Amino acid sequence: MFARCRALIFYLLICLFARQTILVLGQVPIDGFCARYSGKDVNVTRFMGEWYEVARVPASNLSCVKTSLGVDAQQDIVNVNTSFSYAREKPFITYNMIGAVSVPNLAPLDLYNFSYTLENSVLPYTSYKLVATDYDDISFICGYQNTSGTTETFGFVLQRDPIIRSQNTSNFIAILGMSMIVQGSSCPGYTPTPSSPDSGSTLSFSLYLLLALISLHLLRK
Ligand SMILES: *[C@@H]1O[C@H](CO)[C@@H](O)[C@H](O)[C@H]1NC(C)=O
Ligand SMILES: *[C@@H]1O[C@H](CO)[C@@H](O)[C@H](O)[C@H]1NC(C)=O
Ligand SMILES: *[C@@H]1O[C@H](CO)[C@@H](O)[C@H](O)[C@H]1NC(C)=O
Ligand SMILES: *[C@@H]1O[C@H](CO)[C@@H](O)[C@H](O)[C@H]1NC(C)=O
Ligand SMILES: *[C@@H]1O[C@H](CO)[C@@H](O)[C@H](O)[C@H]1NC(C)=O
Ligand SMILES: *[C@@H]1O[C@H](CO)[C@@H](O)[C@H](O)[C@H]1NC(C)=O
Repeated sequence: MFARCRALIFYLLICLFARQTILVLGQVPIDGFCARYSGKDVNVTRFMGEWYEVARVPASNLSCVKTSLGVDAQQDIVNVNTSFSYAREKPFITYNMIGAVSVPNLAPLDLYNFSYTLENSVLPYTSYKLVATDYDDISFICGYQNTSGTTETFGFVLQRDPIIRSQNTSNFIAILGMSMIVQGSSCPGYTPTPSSPDSGSTLSFSLYLLLALISLHLLRK
């Protein structure tokens, strides 16, 4: 019964907003959107492990983006290792960035602020907000970077699987007007989970809530 209600809510949203989405998407500013959500209600331990980045807004020239998260519980530190390539130029070179963020007692934070080190250079500090996750399939994250005194906001979708199998997820990405990040067999460590093409995962309740909020946001514009 509960699942059916959720399905109904989802399809109502898609039915109601499919047309408007096409018209309105470009007008949804990611910074205003991200400002609406708190990232507090998360189990940090369950969020650890490997994630593939499958979509991002604004669009980037990155491909094969993969992040490994691991807890160094002794020090209340989360290690963040991200590998990527540049999609157009040098697609066969893999770059590795490493970062670490302090998470006292592994209690969830509003923002996770850290800087990556890429080769020998320290990249600018960036704050991340974990907006929604179901831990097992998909997460949505907002990021804030301070470049030349201006805060730039971006958003991205992480999946445990590099392949987007769920129509629900595709819809979610489309509603936010995100660009796809190329993930494919030419990417290092590309390991899609074996499963039939139509066995897409179901989104968790928190993501349905998020979809509903996005739709309300679109409606109010
Ligand atoms: C999308 O979500 C609904 C509601 O949970 C579910 O019934 C449906 O199977 C999902 N579709 C896919 C392809 O995951
Ligand atoms: C977080 O998840 C871990 C692993 O599933 C579990 O052992 C722990 O109790 C959870 N913590 C909270 C605060 O729910
Ligand atoms: C991150 O990279 C460092 C250095 O290569 C390594 O020691 C660490 O185990 C990695 N952590 C994760 C979570 O992959
Ligand atoms: C695109 O990739 C190149 C590396 O080939 C990098 O120097 C440049 O800053 C990237 N552009 C953007 C907009 O990220
Ligand atoms: C992030 O951390 C750095 C280093 O501690 C600090 O300079 C910067 O102000 C912090 N940024 C935010 C948004 O908290
Ligand atoms: C961004 O950097 C400028 C200086 O470069 C600083 O005045 C401003 O407070 C910073 N904003 C944030 C949100 O860290």
